[in-house]
Amino acid sequence: MFASGNGSNVEEICRFFEQDLSVTVVAVLTNNLNAGVIQRVKQFGLKAEVFNKADFTEGGLLKKVIDLKPDLIVLAGFLWKIGNDWVNTFPNKIINIHPALLPKYGGKGMYGHHVHKAVKANGERVTGITIHYVNEAYDEGAIIFQEEVQLTDEDRVEDIAKKVHTLEHRHFPSVIDQLLKKESNEV
Ligand code: GAR
Repeated sequence: MFASGNGSNVEEICRFFEQDLSVTVVAVLTNNLNAGVIQRVKQFGLKAEVFNKADFTEGGLLKKVIDLKPDLIVLAGFLWKIGNDWVNTFPNKIINIHPALLPKYGGKGMYGHHVHKAVKANGERVTGITIHYVNEAYDEGAIIFQEEVQLTDEDRVEDIAKKVHTLEHRHFPSVIDQLLKKESNEV
């Protein structure tokens, strides 16, 4: 799993699979030395590894991850663009969660609070989450799962964020579970 910040999704995913001996989190990777995810995963006996831009873009980290032989690479609040070297090495094996109903509110600069602010500014009555495969184009890979949540005029940006996070925590672990089990049935 890759995360850049708080790591609440990573935490929920770790908790979901804690008792499932068929699924192992082989690595938690972050580009941010101060990311909350580093503390959050300790309770699961995991140590997050911090990497820098050169590790990520010059092949060092890619080689490490190849050696781990992951069935799935999960981006859970990871904010760097995934390079083509990663996409080509792991076609249909990298998934991302986006805090809106793509294709709306996607693309460069549309992450976290920026998304919720734009949703509020446009007076949207509905927002939601999208889980999708990662391809060369930012936020444009094939959609795996979406879920909506209703908004009211009273919802502040923080309320929208909270509603979306609740949806993410409810669905992301089980979508990952289904993808992993589907894959093992196909082998
Ligand atoms: C999540 O809401 C996720 O959808 C979003 O970052 C948040 C991370 O929260 N991702 C993006 O905006 C990617 N474009 P978390 O660190 O608490 O899991």
